[in-house]
Formats: sequence, C-alpha cells, structure tokens
Amino acid sequence: MNDVSKPAAADRLNRPDLDAFWMPFTANRQFKAEPRLLVGAKGLYYRTEDGREIIDGASGLWCVNAGHGRPEIAEAVGRQLVEMDYAPSFNMGHRLAFDFASELAKLAPEGLDRIFFTNSGSESVDTALKIALAYHRARGEGQRTRLVGREKGYHGVGFGGISVGGLVNNRRMFLTLHGAEHLVHTHDLAKNAFSKGLPSHGAEKADDLERLVALHGAETIAAVIVEPVAGSAGVLPPPVGYLQRLREICTKYGILLIFDEVITGFGRLGAPFASQVFGVTPDIMTTAKGVTNGAFPMGAVFAGRHVHDAIVQGPAGAIELFHGYTYSGHPAACAAGLATLGIYAREGLLTRAADLAPGFEAAVHALKGRRHVIDVRNIGLMAGIDLAPRDGAPGARGFEAHLKAFKAGALIRYTGDTIALSPPLIATPQELERLVGIVGEVVETID
Ligand SMILES: Cc1ncc(COP(=O)(O)O)c(C=O)c1O
Repeated sequence: MNDVSKPAAADRLNRPDLDAFWMPFTANRQFKAEPRLLVGAKGLYYRTEDGREIIDGASGLWCVNAGHGRPEIAEAVGRQLVEMDYAPSFNMGHRLAFDFASELAKLAPEGLDRIFFTNSGSESVDTALKIALAYHRARGEGQRTRLVGREKGYHGVGFGGISVGGLVNNRRMFLTLHGAEHLVHTHDLAKNAFSKGLPSHGAEKADDLERLVALHGAETIAAVIVEPVAGSAGVLPPPVGYLQRLREICTKYGILLIFDEVITGFGRLGAPFASQVFGVTPDIMTTAKGVTNGAFPMGAVFAGRHVHDAIVQGPAGAIELFHGYTYSGHPAACAAGLATLGIYAREGLLTRAADLAPGFEAAVHALKGRRHVIDVRNIGLMAGIDLAPRDGAPGARGFEAHLKAFKAGALIRYTGDTIALSPPLIATPQELERLVGIVGEVVETID
C-alpha cells in the first residue's frame, strides 16, 4: 500500500525506507525530512539519486585519498574474498597481513615499523593508548596511567578516544576515563587569523605539558596524544615549533608521544605522514581512513621499535599483549590496503599534495573578504574556512553552507561554523579552483 505521506518526488526516486537506520553524527530528523542520498562515485565526483554530479571536497570523510571507484582495489578485495574470505589473526596467520604490515613499515617515519591492525580510527586510538600503558607497565613504571590529550582534539568515539578528545559535544553525555588530562589548544584567532601554512604564534603552548607535569608528577603520565594538524575541530595546523617543543618535553620526562594521523596520514600534507613533513617523530602513530582509500574498514597503529620490544618479551609461549580484534588484519582489508599502496606509489599521490598546495592555498585565501569569512587556514590539501557565527545561532551558518554547497554541486564538511575542505589527492588544479569557487558563491548566499 502506498504511504500517502511520502512525497511524489521521493517515489520517483525509489527512495528506501529511512526510518530504521539511526545515522551517526547526523541531525537524523532533519536529514530524513530532506535526504541527501548518493548513488555512485568515480574519481573526484559523487552522483546523487537525482543524477547530479557532486565534486567531493571532503574525500568522503577524509579517507578517499586516491579518488573513488578504483578498480584495482575492488578487484583485489573480490579476489581475496573468493580465495579466503576470513582468517583469524589470534595465534594464526595469513600472508597478506604480514605483507601489508611490511609495506606500511617501509613508508613509516623512522623506527615506527611495528604495525598493529585495527578496523577504524577509534580503535587505533584506543589501541595506541593501551600500548602506551602496557609499555610503561612492562618497564616497571605501571604507575604511569595518565593520558594527556588536547582541547579541540578529536580521537574518535571509543571511551579512550573521547577521554583524551577535547570536543565538548562528544564528551558531555558520556563517562570519560579517570586520569585523562588536556593541554590547552593552539587556536588563536586574534594572533593567527588568515595564516598560510603554519601559524607563527603559539609554540609556547606546548609548555602546558610542563604545567601537567608540575601538577601531577611526570612519573604518573603515560602518554600525550595529539593530531599533528587538528582536523575535525576545523583544520588547525600547529604553530611553528610547537610539535618540536612537545616532542622535547615528552622525551625529557619519559612520556610517550602519540601522533593521531588518522586524517593526516597517507599523503594529505604532501608526504606519507605529517610526522615526516614536520620532522618530528612520535613513539606511536595511529592511522585508518586512507590506509585502504576508505574502501574497506581498517586502521593501523605504528609503534616504535623501542615500544614494541619493551612489550614483546618474557616467556616465549606467553601472549605479550592481551589486545586485538576479530578483524585485525582481515584478509580483504589487507588486500584493499596493498592495492591502495600500489596506486599511491604508481601515481605519486603521497607527495602530490605538496605540488597542489600552493595553488590550493591561493584559492582558499582568495575567500578573504567574502561574506562572513573571518579566518582561512590551510596546509597541504586541507583548509578550514571560519564563518562568523550568527547571533544566537552558532553553527547555523556552517550547516547552511553544507546544505547549500550540496545543492550547488559540492560535498564539503562543516564543524560548527567552520567549513573544512580536504579533496582527494587526484584533483587537478582546475578542479580545486572549481571547488573553492562553489564555496565562495555559497557563502555569499547565507544570511
Ligand atoms: C584524528 C582522528 N582520530 C580518530 C578518528 C576516528 O576514526 P573512525 O571514525 O574511523 O573511528 C578520526 C575520524 O575522523 C580522526 O579524525
């Protein structure tokens, strides 16, 4: 029987029943009243249910670095599922997981060549935090249990990740871990507005770790986790010298430094990892997203040899780390990952952002002076564009920009009143101009 309340247009589009799927991080009722459904994707473009082409200004969700619909990945996954759909990695093994870990280790920053597989960024973060605790415990410093994150940080949605995360909406309804502390964030609109690349002011904010050391004692702190460039908070590149200083303070006190490279990993900044761009090597690095070009759920934690070796010791027959997932090193995920690395290598995508960055920077900074625009920040192929909040309705302009951009043919991310752009690394300079052009036109139409 026909549902008379269903609009005729939706019938023509053969829409699914939208009720049962409780959508993540979504205004469910608003979305279901006015759905934005995608039906296909190729290269830099999505296709909508009504046949429109949408330029992907967000690499899906910061993950489709090599562009959409890569047959090499689809074929590798298909072949693997037929050959061997699943194999456990607990006390069993299969070749692809070892091959993929070896290939990842070749790309890794100096010494971070021990790889633990997960299924997402959130799991990578929780895994890294647990590895940090296990490391200290194995070295006889089990009292180091505090985990330090940073205000405005995003580390996924596990209890570990929200505890070290610094976005209030992700925390306020939930329990957080005892002993999670936060450094001050580095965003300083007054001093750094419209910075190109790294902002000049704020390296001293790394000294906030000294405050936590003075307050709690270094011997209680296990690790500091930061995104080298905060992504979800609205693209906040680190001030010049900040990460170096954080590294020095961590080293001074024996605190492990974890870089969360779930967004910055796999070429976003013009090198395989942000750590290589900034010349700062953490002890542990978390990744996901671009590890399989978003085509298969997967994450990978890169541990320093010193971290791994401290834990992987003791009686030969004993399990060294009581941690892992049913799908750690899933054969199809590894096949997707190996195919993805092949594409990255053949097409030079892990360094391509460095070539595209100057043109992209010029394009996004040309938005200065557009209606509502109060800041533009950029690094590699990432940019944040802040709109002034509407009186009494913070976040409304960001959301409207997202909706209007979709109507105008672009998928963009927004967080609060910040528009975030992170297009696939295959984009041409002309396509980047077009994407930013749409943003420029859209902001002019917002009240
Ligand atoms: C820096 C960072 N860490 C962790 C995550 C969580 O990843 P996932 O959504 O795959 O759990 C994200 C997701 O955007 C992220 O940006």
